[in-house]
Amino acid sequence: MVTVNKNYLKLQGNYLFSTIAKKVAAHQKENPEAEIIRLGIGDVTQPLAPAILKALHKAVEEMGNVETFRGYAPEQGYEFLRNTISEQDYRARGCEISPEELFISDGAKSDCGNIQEIFGTDNRVAVCDPVYPVYVDTNVMAGRTGNFNQERGNYDGLIYMPCTESGGFIPEIPREIPDLIYLCFPNNPTGTAITKPQLQEWVDYANRIGAVILYDAAYEAYISNPELPHSIYECDGATECAIEFRSFSKNAGFTGVRLGFTVVPKNLKRNGAGLWDLWERRQGTRFNGAPYLVQRAGEAVYTPEGRQELSAQVSYYMENARIIREGLEGAGFTVYGGIDAPYIWMKTPENMGSWEFFAYLLEKANVVGTPGEGFGACGEGYFRLTAFGDREKTKQAIERIRQIESIRK
Ligand code: MLT
Repeated sequence: MVTVNKNYLKLQGNYLFSTIAKKVAAHQKENPEAEIIRLGIGDVTQPLAPAILKALHKAVEEMGNVETFRGYAPEQGYEFLRNTISEQDYRARGCEISPEELFISDGAKSDCGNIQEIFGTDNRVAVCDPVYPVYVDTNVMAGRTGNFNQERGNYDGLIYMPCTESGGFIPEIPREIPDLIYLCFPNNPTGTAITKPQLQEWVDYANRIGAVILYDAAYEAYISNPELPHSIYECDGATECAIEFRSFSKNAGFTGVRLGFTVVPKNLKRNGAGLWDLWERRQGTRFNGAPYLVQRAGEAVYTPEGRQELSAQVSYYMENARIIREGLEGAGFTVYGGIDAPYIWMKTPENMGSWEFFAYLLEKANVVGTPGEGFGACGEGYFRLTAFGDREKTKQAIERIRQIESIRK
């Protein structure tokens, strides 16, 4: 008889953003006239930059020509892209990351989810609370957790590191000793950034206890403070304890194009094995490489034109962030994030839970955000808005929220 992976049965409902999409679709069906503004999922709205389009067109032409046609991409990614990344994202910032240590992929979500496959199922996993749900759900699927604890609102067997208002939404070193530690900075969902000394503490801690940090830096392009680290490898000793994930989704608008990469340093070893070797073996077996066209588009991100155009795109979104932050503050809300990250983390009105606030905003203002509780128990009482919307719609959404808030008060 066929049996299923029973770990899947421990999962709570659907993936967070699918649940929200279903609720929004139901609301739209009931209110066909409603002009819904979506500031829920962190999906970009600006079109691909001209430098990227140019590179894509050129690569399409190459694919149509027998001399320049390409079949399977190398599973670690084309050298032209790995060399560029190593030079511009790492060596330019003083990090000794070689092209060989880079694995090009179809995005950070897949890599963050897949990386846990190279680790034993007996590892203790630490995650921030609130947290990007992919880190938790994929570990549930793999059997690295117990059941969902309805009372606490989280999974048994995981180490949750509360990120609270009083701690500036930066986690504290946990009391229990973890093996794998997921960190994401600038943070999704709280929009908080980490300083280099704070990150160095985590690196030193991981090296002291032999843990591995899985560092998600998907939002590094949104850092405005020049003192803040863009990569964990800016910290001393990080190549001995950290794997880093990067994405082209948010800095170059590739959410629908799909491209990312993972850094696995050669000297990162555990349990007598090189993690680079294991990941290389895993990718070689399960992945056929990101498409040539897309990797050429990725390369264009690093050209002078690409850089200039994308920096304008980041500024566009960060101006949205400012509009959201200041608009909500003006309406009396307590608001965090939105300065070095494209997410705004607002406190819900007193006596209103985060899912309740979600329903209220959708019903009264036709505005979609993400309830904090969807990111974990410590997200209760908060609500996330994304700065990735269209400018006019973002302004309208804030205006609508201000209006219903003045009525509610
Ligand atoms: C989010 O809204 O948290 C992100 O868009 C999800 C993702 O990047 O996968």
